[in-house]
Amino acid sequence: MTNPQIKFKYQMFKYLPTGRQVELLFEFCHLNFMKILAIDTSCDETAAAIIEGRRVLSNVIYSQILIHKKWGGVVPSLAKRAHEERIDFVVEETLRKFFGPVSVSFPSVLARTHHSTARRLDPFHLDTQKFIKNIDAIAVTQGPGLAVALEVGIKKAKELAKKYNKKLISVNHLEGHLYSPFVQNSRGNPKIDFKFPYLGLIISGGHTEFVIFKNHLEYEVIGSTLDDAAGEALDKTAKLLGLGYPGGPVIERLAKEAGNKDFHNFPRPMLKSNDLNFSFSGLKTSFYYFLRPCVIPSDGAKATESRNLDIRQLASSFQEAVFDTLIKKTERAIKQTEIKRLIVGGGVIANLYLRKLFRDLVKRHNGSVLFPSYKYLTGDNAAMIGVIAGFKAEKGLFVKNIDGLDRIPRFNIS
Ligand code: KG4
Ligand code: ZN
Repeated sequence: MTNPQIKFKYQMFKYLPTGRQVELLFEFCHLNFMKILAIDTSCDETAAAIIEGRRVLSNVIYSQILIHKKWGGVVPSLAKRAHEERIDFVVEETLRKFFGPVSVSFPSVLARTHHSTARRLDPFHLDTQKFIKNIDAIAVTQGPGLAVALEVGIKKAKELAKKYNKKLISVNHLEGHLYSPFVQNSRGNPKIDFKFPYLGLIISGGHTEFVIFKNHLEYEVIGSTLDDAAGEALDKTAKLLGLGYPGGPVIERLAKEAGNKDFHNFPRPMLKSNDLNFSFSGLKTSFYYFLRPCVIPSDGAKATESRNLDIRQLASSFQEAVFDTLIKKTERAIKQTEIKRLIVGGGVIANLYLRKLFRDLVKRHNGSVLFPSYKYLTGDNAAMIGVIAGFKAEKGLFVKNIDGLDRIPRFNIS
């Protein structure tokens, strides 16, 4: 029993209440799963996690939002530099959180195992070599994403795999968002099983895609955006209004305050087409033309004031147009595929109002919907990458030529 946390839990076992003992027994049964150290640097989050089966044992996400906020979007050169500065710390912190010495009380040990942190570099000295012995394989996001950002994670993963003689697994980031509702905390919650097939919808800053999730690692893309992604449309509109980056959360807050989503009827793009594709760029343009009579590009908030427009109602109407389009297209997808079990992943599904719309939709169709269970799983994270890596490892899908692994910025799911 080399892991100090497991040793500690074992020693404490007899003092614990029965419910907790049952959970721990379940946890000990999982000890034969591979432990995978996963890395994701696909966009503006430097992330690493340790996964065992579907359980997240340790998870660190170092967000770059504060760096990009004032530019109204992700600046590639700044993202690259921030990833380079933080990747070593993020990986070391992830290892330390799980394998480090246990000196705190039992509950906080558990709390530490699945919480995301965004801390500054600390002078903690870490013996990576000692901790990494307990890791069975390294996983990394190969794409899609920002090329200069992906490169940083891939370089680190290759370096670790070669130095410590570990197997390497490459993962598609979009698959990660599809698997995100199945990622469990260290206690194995949520306890849901796979019931294929699912109708998957990924809605993030870079993608809006319908996927039939047929079985483990088997997908068919049946629709996607022809231009901007849903999250991108929210981000660009927020930028136009001078609300900073990312736009989704601010627009959600303003829309909630507005209480009137019908202030202006913005177009619902592509609803007349019979396919399952999206196009959000025209909607963004229509928003721009609505604002134009008074637009001062750098400060949309003042512009709306001068025309006596309520920025909250504007945000609410725009959000409604994006979400209504998503829901109506999803309804079409349910009818066309006859799949009523829905999975929705990606940053935009952090939105609680959108979750309600999806719940109402599946209720009307006697279906069901799964979302990521924890907030950090809606945005970019390495935990979801590690979970897929586990399924790939079961099938022996390791990278054959580690030196030859390269980023694929436009990596499709197939
Ligand atoms: O999955 P994600 O973190 O990164 C990508 O892979 O793109 O998604 C980021 C996107 C951004 O466009 C952001 O505005 C949006 O998710 N987002 C939201 C919310 N939180 C983040 N959109 C709507 N409501 C939110 N609460
Ligand atoms: Zn993502």
